[in-house]
Amino acid sequence: MSTRTTVITGIGSLVTNDPGHGTGPLGLLTDAAVVVDGDRIAWVGPSAQAPAADERFDAAGRALLPGFVDSHAHLVFAGDRTAEFDARMSGQSYSAGGIRTTVAATRAASDEELEANVARFVREAVRQGTTTIECKSGYGLTVEDEARALRVAAKHTPETTYLGAHIVAPEYAEDPAGYVDLVTGEMLDACAPHARWVDVFCEKGAFDGDQARAVLTAGIERGLTPRVHANQLTYGPGVQLAVELGAASADHCTHLADEDVAALAGSATVATLLPGAEFSTRAEYPSGRRLLDAGAVVALSTDCNPGSSFTSSMAFCIAVAVREMGMTPDEAVWAATAGGAHALRRTDVGTVAVGSRADLLLLDAPSHVHLAYRPGVPLTAAVWRAGVREV
Ligand code: NIG
Ligand code: FE
Repeated sequence: MSTRTTVITGIGSLVTNDPGHGTGPLGLLTDAAVVVDGDRIAWVGPSAQAPAADERFDAAGRALLPGFVDSHAHLVFAGDRTAEFDARMSGQSYSAGGIRTTVAATRAASDEELEANVARFVREAVRQGTTTIECKSGYGLTVEDEARALRVAAKHTPETTYLGAHIVAPEYAEDPAGYVDLVTGEMLDACAPHARWVDVFCEKGAFDGDQARAVLTAGIERGLTPRVHANQLTYGPGVQLAVELGAASADHCTHLADEDVAALAGSATVATLLPGAEFSTRAEYPSGRRLLDAGAVVALSTDCNPGSSFTSSMAFCIAVAVREMGMTPDEAVWAATAGGAHALRRTDVGTVAVGSRADLLLLDAPSHVHLAYRPGVPLTAAVWRAGVREV
């Protein structure tokens, strides 16, 4: 059965992330064209040799890249925490406890309200070039509210993550072991059918190494794949645990000992850096350079959530990573596209190659470097998601 084809011609600079296909790690091509057939990329090559198609789109010399893969977001919530942010910017420090405010608001929200919020944030992300987004539960913390969060998230993305172990639910403040039993028992039973991943906030004030291990192991036994909120606020066992359990990703990685960097470098666990969180908590940025030089695979992601990082902008994360985390523009763009795909163990996104999903971002700029060079400027000219023009 034939599908509708579109040829995008006149691409001044094309990021393929396919080193076999162009120059450097980004596999850059100039004066390129791409053919989209249905939801897939069918052809990539020089613009002058582009085959005919049903429709033609002239990129007019602008840059085209794979849509961003945002591998870490918390979109199912109600309310916001403006006052907490304001207080922090006036000198107060961030702690895991603020999550409780959002838990209360989320529990009180109707299904429709949560649904509308997720739809709004996904739309907001797409408008900025994100074509794949992961979404966690973690603001419900009861069996019903966690399962509800994942059902809502699953309407928008296949990358759903069970984060019942975000913090100990307020009702279990005096009985954290009882809460871990719930998270690894009845709550897991209710959530596993709607989730691909299991996550835990391994941190002081949240879950220690033993509790985190129990949560992740139970999830693995139910067929979920682990990813870990690790080493965000303090040094701790999160990264080592993530590597030991074969997690797809260790996220945050803000406080890393040399052994943590070495463990990541020697593993298939991606180090996912979330500069929005350091920005919004006025914390030290992690060094992307240190991880890259050691040989770790690095992803960049927004961590979009109302507490520690209320941004859905991957371009913002790229700009900060370049300016503050020692990453080159090429490395940051790779981390926000192919890196995110690695962190989600996806081979169909994050590249512009024949057979990959037609997820494309056209910039109002001649080069992907402008994502860092022109911080804060809305550069999205067009977005295709699975071959459908969304922006
Ligand atoms: O990834 N670290 C834990 N969870 C979120 C913060 C959530 C919140 O403050 O509401 C994060 O930064
Ligand atoms: Fe997070």
